[in-house]
Amino acid sequence: MTTRAVVIGCGHYLPSRVVENAEFEATLDTNDEWIKSRSGIERRHFAAEGETTSSMATAAAQAALKDAGLGPDDVDAIVLATSTADFTFPSAATMVQAQLGMTSGYAFDVQAVCAGFIFALTNANALILSGQAKRVLVIGAETFSRIMDWTDRSTCVLFGDGAGAVLLEAQDGDGTASDRGVLSTDLNSDGRHRDLLYVDGGVSTGTTGYLRMQGNQVFRHAVGKLAATATTAMERAGVTAAEVDWIVPHQANIRIIQGTAKKLELPMEQVVVTVQDHGNTSAASIPLALSVGRDRGQIKPGDLIVTEAIGGGLAWGAVVLRW
Ligand code: ACO
Repeated sequence: MTTRAVVIGCGHYLPSRVVENAEFEATLDTNDEWIKSRSGIERRHFAAEGETTSSMATAAAQAALKDAGLGPDDVDAIVLATSTADFTFPSAATMVQAQLGMTSGYAFDVQAVCAGFIFALTNANALILSGQAKRVLVIGAETFSRIMDWTDRSTCVLFGDGAGAVLLEAQDGDGTASDRGVLSTDLNSDGRHRDLLYVDGGVSTGTTGYLRMQGNQVFRHAVGKLAATATTAMERAGVTAAEVDWIVPHQANIRIIQGTAKKLELPMEQVVVTVQDHGNTSAASIPLALSVGRDRGQIKPGDLIVTEAIGGGLAWGAVVLRW
């Protein structure tokens, strides 16, 4: 008998304000055609005044709990992936804990930028496998609209806000790849590439700062590293690409998503794509895509999923799970 961390609920939250590409044409030298053809993005959601990473994360967590038919006191831990916590501290996760009305257990943030949800899921899986928690809420939530330089057309058209959550539960498996739950994980980072994608503010500057990105340089690393980490995770899980039902990639750019699928020899019909509607929501993009993919009827119980992401750091990784 093997313990597995199985997804028993998922949910998401998107702010109500939808911004179409054309809106940027009023203030920037850009257009819908450039944004769509270079990134695949058509629109994104932006948080309203007063909406924060923790409030969106709480809404997503409540949806995941409702989906599982459980309440906040049924949860042992919250692991929240974000680079845009409401405050330097406390963690956004403890704010979510309070907003959910959860008075026991523990909560903490994980910061690995766009790869944050992969790192959070891997940590939550480890908590469950080591017996430190039976049920863990894993959340990705971001308010990237608050760290955009609205005069920089090469970044501010690419990002959006939102949150997604999954609830993991310890269940018995037989130790084979036909088990439900997380089957394998692979994490990587290489801090030598920190200058490719960073925020130029923080404790050392006394400002929040703005996102700075050498997009084409990040692009250069993305496809190869994503295909490699997905392949490593599949090997660890003892599965082949032919057995995979869905790739659920980080949603940064349709060309990266297509390039990675091609390298893995999987058709785009087996890729959950939300980038056109959400833009790049960083750590929120994968749980958003899981929840939207499930709601669309794409992801079904028993499906074998490979999920992968790369972001600032650089940090990247993949998780193989059976839904
Ligand atoms: N509208 C019109 N033109 C623009 C815009 C815009 N919004 N933005 C840039 N351009 C121009 C540039 O100025 C450049 O012009 P030039 O040739 O005269 O200098 C030209 O378009 C091409 O720019 P590139 O940056 O080379 O364009 P590219 O095809 O690489 O696409 C993009 C840019 C979409 C940013 C792409 O590189 C990308 O998606 N990179 C990866 C982003 C990513 O995955 N990040 C990781 C996750 S994010 C995270 O971790 C927070």
